[in-house]
Amino acid sequence: MKRSSLRQSSFLALLATTGLTCALITPAAHATTPAEQLGAYTAQSGAPAVPARGQQFFNNRQGRDWSCGSCHGALPTQAGKHASTGKTIGALAPAFNPERFTDSAKTEKWFRRNCNDVAGRECTAAEKADVLSWLMALKR
Ligand code: HEC
Repeated sequence: MKRSSLRQSSFLALLATTGLTCALITPAAHATTPAEQLGAYTAQSGAPAVPARGQQFFNNRQGRDWSCGSCHGALPTQAGKHASTGKTIGALAPAFNPERFTDSAKTEKWFRRNCNDVAGRECTAAEKADVLSWLMALKR
């Protein structure tokens, strides 16, 4: 009895250590800045980003019911509201929400999901660069 609880506790300690290590390593692996992500998308697309085109993409319905602005607001310098759940979504423009575009895994995950919802496909690197360059141009 004693022995098994000892084994159990060392297993738990191992789990805790592993979890801690992951927690310490994972964010660093994806940590980035809006400018770095814009640089990566621009390099991928091979052309400079065009903020005005990003704004247009953001507010156009791509043949579906929603635009990006349906959840994020047409001018995402303030909180938006999810079009179906009604949940509040923090401002998307990084100058108004310092957490934005600081985790490349998160950014990619939501671009994939939201572009599929709005456009029925993934966004291209050029579209991501355009949208991000417009969001970065929105200043206080
Ligand atoms: C149906 C609602 C909805 C629509 C439509 C939508 N989004 Fe989002 N978006 C969300 C939610 C929910 C999150 C995650 C919650 C959060 O980060 O606050 C999110 C997060 C994001 C992020 C993550 C940013 C980061 O790194 O923190 C990006 C980028 C994004 N959306 C871009 C877009 C673009 C571009 C479109 C249009 C193609 C779009 N969204 C349309 C709901 C939506």
